[in-house]
Amino acid sequence: MNRTENLELDNELKRQNYYIELCREWVAEQSAKLGRPLTCTAKTFGCQMNSRDSEKLLGILIKIGYVETDSENADFVLYNTCTVRENANLKVYGHLGYMQNLKKKNPNMMIALCGCMMQEETVVEKIKKSYRFVDVVFGTHNIFKLAELLYKRIESGKMVIDIWKDTDMIVEDLPIERKFSFKSGVNIMFGCDNFCSYCIVPYVRGRERSRKPEDIIKEIENLVADGVIEIMLLGQNVNSYGKGLENEITFAQLLKQVEQIEGLKRIRFMTSHPKDLSDELIEVMKNSTKICRQLHLPIQSGSNRLLKLMNRKYTKESYLELVDKIKTAMPDIALTTDIIVGFPGETEEDFQETMDVVKKVRYDSAFTFIYSKRTGTPAAKMENQVSEEEIKDRFDRLLAEVQKISAEETEKRVGMVLPVLAESRNTHDDSLITGRLSHNTVVHFKGTPDMIGNIYNVRLNEAKGFYYIGEIVEER
Ligand code: 5AD
Ligand code: SF4
Repeated sequence: MNRTENLELDNELKRQNYYIELCREWVAEQSAKLGRPLTCTAKTFGCQMNSRDSEKLLGILIKIGYVETDSENADFVLYNTCTVRENANLKVYGHLGYMQNLKKKNPNMMIALCGCMMQEETVVEKIKKSYRFVDVVFGTHNIFKLAELLYKRIESGKMVIDIWKDTDMIVEDLPIERKFSFKSGVNIMFGCDNFCSYCIVPYVRGRERSRKPEDIIKEIENLVADGVIEIMLLGQNVNSYGKGLENEITFAQLLKQVEQIEGLKRIRFMTSHPKDLSDELIEVMKNSTKICRQLHLPIQSGSNRLLKLMNRKYTKESYLELVDKIKTAMPDIALTTDIIVGFPGETEEDFQETMDVVKKVRYDSAFTFIYSKRTGTPAAKMENQVSEEEIKDRFDRLLAEVQKISAEETEKRVGMVLPVLAESRNTHDDSLITGRLSHNTVVHFKGTPDMIGNIYNVRLNEAKGFYYIGEIVEER
């Protein structure tokens, strides 16, 4: 990045801080009028990327003077949307129907829509036509502009729409409101250049761009100084991190730098594309005491024919070889995956190849998805030869196998004493604390809320399918 670009980003930050100030004055006036604080809420759909974006958006809203609430009956309601599958879109429309009634009762209410779904032209057209009560619409590339857009809405009294097709801008240092005090996501890159044929992400999240390592390290150091002990490095394809930076760097090298940060105890990352997972990364993970023993490695399908049609750029054999290499280096690693059932033209033979991979790899857990046609992707034009009944039947068989293996793998660790990060109070029994192993599996154990955010040695007494009941053995 050259000096002029740096200057531009610097100016953008100043610009946004200026709008935050203007909105602050407006919020203060409104709340004086109403005799109560103005409330805001953010509802997030989709992946960890969106969760992190919502923390940034909430950070801006709180800086503006809104007070966060859980209720959707708030003065500012933000929906951060997902569009990876059709049902994600349907959920948003469902919420909007409900919000229309709430807004009738509270005319001061502002409704904002942002995120991946808004990057689709047809969606924005539909909102303009059928959901006129929405106040602000923006996309994935300009979330840093929330204060500016809100101010435009206040001034104009009209719906404000601002969608960018793409960007190479990464605005650093805006406020962030974290959901957890002790763990945090950290974006290391944005966008995706892989164009898997079924996937809409490259169209709505734009071209791949990496943050500079020094910005990432600075952010993590600040988080750690603020009490964070676990971070999740986020990117659609973290294994290709660093390409295109002025000083190129690999993901494994970045991990080594992150590992040096004193006070940081756990490092996770998401998502790894199997085609780019390097020996260097396996080596760094193996030698690390901080990188968690968990790897999410989406397979999508076990059929070489479908993998080719999906544009995944690996084969069943090369994937299994990679898994072997990882398991040899780290025998205790927990592997997780994503699988799509019902890709256009999937035959029973193709499906059996997927089942074969599942049986061979023995995933700790797997996210199974029914293929969803996304307009604009190459797969949407492929002939769909799979009937709904066939898909349903395959999905059920796959899920049963995945759950059986997952339960068997979980059972294997019973009796072990392992470090568990206490994360929250159990929602059903408040004498219990819910935490996570380095492997990411959930453990419930007796404890008190003051323990949240610390790591304890816990004996895993009992496996219950995909989680454990344990007891603290000694404090760390
Ligand atoms: N249909 C079903 N699942 C999909 N995914 C991505 N696009 C689609 C689609 N069109 C799944 C993939 C990916 C995960 C995040 O979502 O498995 O890894
Ligand atoms: Fe979608 Fe493939 Fe990119 Fe993942 S790697 S976001 S599945 S295009």
